[in-house]
Amino acid sequence: MRKISYHELRKMWFDFYQSHDHKVIPSASLVPENDGSVLFTTAGMQPLVPFLLGEKHPAGKRLCDIQKCVRTGDIDEVGDGSHLTFFEMMGNWSLGDYFKKEKVAWSYDFLTNPKYLGLDKNCIGVTAFEGDEVAPRDKEVAEYWQQVGIPENRIWFLPKSENWWQLASGTGPCGPDSEMFYDTGKAPCSPTCNPSCNCGKYVEIGNDVYMQYVIYEKDGKAMPAKQRNVDTGMGLERLLCFVNGYQTVYDSELFAPAIKIVGEDCGLVYADNLKQFRVLVEHTRAATMILSDGVVPSPTGQGYVLRRLIRRAVRMANQLCCTRDVYVRLIQFYRDFFKGIYTIDDNVTKTYLDEVDKFSKTIEQGIREFNKIKPYLKDKVLSGKTAFRLYETFGFPIELTQELAAEHGLTINMEEFEVAKNKHSELSHTASAGTFKGGLADTSEETACLHTATHLLLAGLKKLLGNEVRQKGSNITPERLRFDFNCDHKLTSDEIAFLEKFVNDAIQRKLPVTMQEMSLKEAQTLGAEGSFANKYGERVKVYTIGDVSMEICGGPHAHNTADLVSFKIVKEESSSAGIRRIKAVIKK
Ligand code: ALA
Repeated sequence: MRKISYHELRKMWFDFYQSHDHKVIPSASLVPENDGSVLFTTAGMQPLVPFLLGEKHPAGKRLCDIQKCVRTGDIDEVGDGSHLTFFEMMGNWSLGDYFKKEKVAWSYDFLTNPKYLGLDKNCIGVTAFEGDEVAPRDKEVAEYWQQVGIPENRIWFLPKSENWWQLASGTGPCGPDSEMFYDTGKAPCSPTCNPSCNCGKYVEIGNDVYMQYVIYEKDGKAMPAKQRNVDTGMGLERLLCFVNGYQTVYDSELFAPAIKIVGEDCGLVYADNLKQFRVLVEHTRAATMILSDGVVPSPTGQGYVLRRLIRRAVRMANQLCCTRDVYVRLIQFYRDFFKGIYTIDDNVTKTYLDEVDKFSKTIEQGIREFNKIKPYLKDKVLSGKTAFRLYETFGFPIELTQELAAEHGLTINMEEFEVAKNKHSELSHTASAGTFKGGLADTSEETACLHTATHLLLAGLKKLLGNEVRQKGSNITPERLRFDFNCDHKLTSDEIAFLEKFVNDAIQRKLPVTMQEMSLKEAQTLGAEGSFANKYGERVKVYTIGDVSMEICGGPHAHNTADLVSFKIVKEESSSAGIRRIKAVIKK
């Protein structure tokens, strides 16, 4: 296999699209300008929204770029071979110019032409939108793919959850997309194996979005757009890893030297400490890029995300017993690496180290407290009250308490934590939720909606699997919900689709969410769901969602299911024997 370097890949992208009359535009900042709806630039199209909606772009109608992006929704996955919080997206745009025919031909040429990526034609597969009440089945794109040489049996029509692209904010230009995949040659996981089953057979290598629609207001329907655009995205890091035949992004030149620096500093072996090495370099790289766009650590907003990244990096560095010099060297490596592309000045290192020092003090105190408490824990459960005390008194972030607990085989009663936290903020009238939020602009609302989604999910599980299904654990971060329940088998894709439809139907029915306080006895008589009932006092809150769910819960919740917009299961996995775990997100 031929080797392609980072700089060669960048140049290849620009050369290719320049040869098709595209103008190269620079990457916008990671901090969105004039856009309060998101904290960071999450996709190449984001800084271009006004132009996708019809405003004239000074560089014309055909653009290409490589955009810096930050996405923290999958932060827990960082440490595997591919998930990153900071990444670069190679993109090209038609702003009301060419459309599907040209784009399909160019995507295919870029992937397979030996002058460019030169991938094996027989291994390329693509997906297309299967259609719904808003947009028709995208037969057009499939025909163009067939015209360039993709056989019908490597074109899959998939639903909205897979083949529709819109911003997480739920508004703006959007449309059906067509993703490109490479068949690794692995055996199919089932007779219906396809690119959406994530079994590892098909690797995603790019996404072409045909932005023919616009959602004008929150909760609004997608309407046909005045201007038809093309928005594309290829994740540079993953592509670099893939075309060079690496197993993980960390084997590429973007990370391997950084991994080496960590090894030299701590004297430990990478293979024995994969997660720590990877999270340390990945988060330090992301934090470096965020700092270089002018963000500083703070208790809210972008600054909080940055703080969280640095703090997680520090936790990993501490586990490896790294010196403080490791951060200096890692930042220096990325400064040299990105020279001529992004500027990383000396202040970045200074601000980074200040945060490291601040957090090191907090950590020492928090761990001392945690170790004091540990011998007294019963049933391997850390009470939510204790977790809250660590958070409130010592500033020990709940995410870190969760990680620390997991390392010791403990779980945290998160319901109790939330109750303690809510009680505290009610009592003190402080905005302490601001710190807990995790940095998303509108997090308390986000958290409330995810709570409501959790209740709907449990109701769906009962419908699907029977009344014996119980909640065995629940955890909500600003980005996602996580729900554990008893079940003796891996859920099939049909079962997952059933659950998604069940919750989305409830969302579409715009059901009111109401709360009543009552005695525990009354709640039980009414048949309210309450796996954690014994954790609450004599008086409980019962949340009712239309005719779908009634559950004892501390809240907070959305006022109406419509606030959730849409629901999607992103992961289904085993949690422990007989317990399955679902991770799901909503699109608010
Ligand atoms: N906007 C599309 C994406 O981010 C290309 O995948």
